[in-house]
Amino acid sequence: MTNDGKSLAVYPGSFDPMTNGHVDIIERGLSVFDEVTIAILLNPEKQPLFTVEERVEIIREHYDGNARVKVDTFSGLLVDYAERVGASVIVRGLRAISDFEYEFQMALMNRRLNARIETVFMMPAESYSYVSSRLVKEVVQLGARVTGLVPSIVERRLQEKYGPPPERRKRR
Ligand code: PNS
Repeated sequence: MTNDGKSLAVYPGSFDPMTNGHVDIIERGLSVFDEVTIAILLNPEKQPLFTVEERVEIIREHYDGNARVKVDTFSGLLVDYAERVGASVIVRGLRAISDFEYEFQMALMNRRLNARIETVFMMPAESYSYVSSRLVKEVVQLGARVTGLVPSIVERRLQEKYGPPPERRKRR
């Protein structure tokens, strides 16, 4: 709970970039919690496609005007961040059994670190069960479209990074 009595969940991740699978989980989170804070991990070891600033900007633009969705960055332990912002729940998406082992380990480690923070798993619509940020980047880099798999602003920003898909180039 936040100071004003609202239930707050943190939805952490890399979001490089945000996909419609993430959007689906955020919507499900909003159906249960008053506020969802999207918390982007600052990870100096990873070489992301989008800088943290770009990811924050993209997500803020997508959720422009939705006061129940906040965007933030964090470093260090996730449970420390959650406690700091007054969230007692961490939301994670489970797409398939293959996600389970890693998520299970993280949830139990986080519980050991801070038993006051609960991890809640949510399943996205089946239509997004195969969608990942990694595959989205690969597919766009190799010249195909990802319309419907990512928000339109993400699709635009991917095209700015990689150039438009080949079919569109021909029409010019
Ligand atoms: O979307 P991702 O990249 O799978 O998200 C992973 C994330 C950010 C949830 C995870 O790496 C994380 O929580 N990092 C913070 C460091 C931490 O708290 N580690 C110990 C708990 S397992």
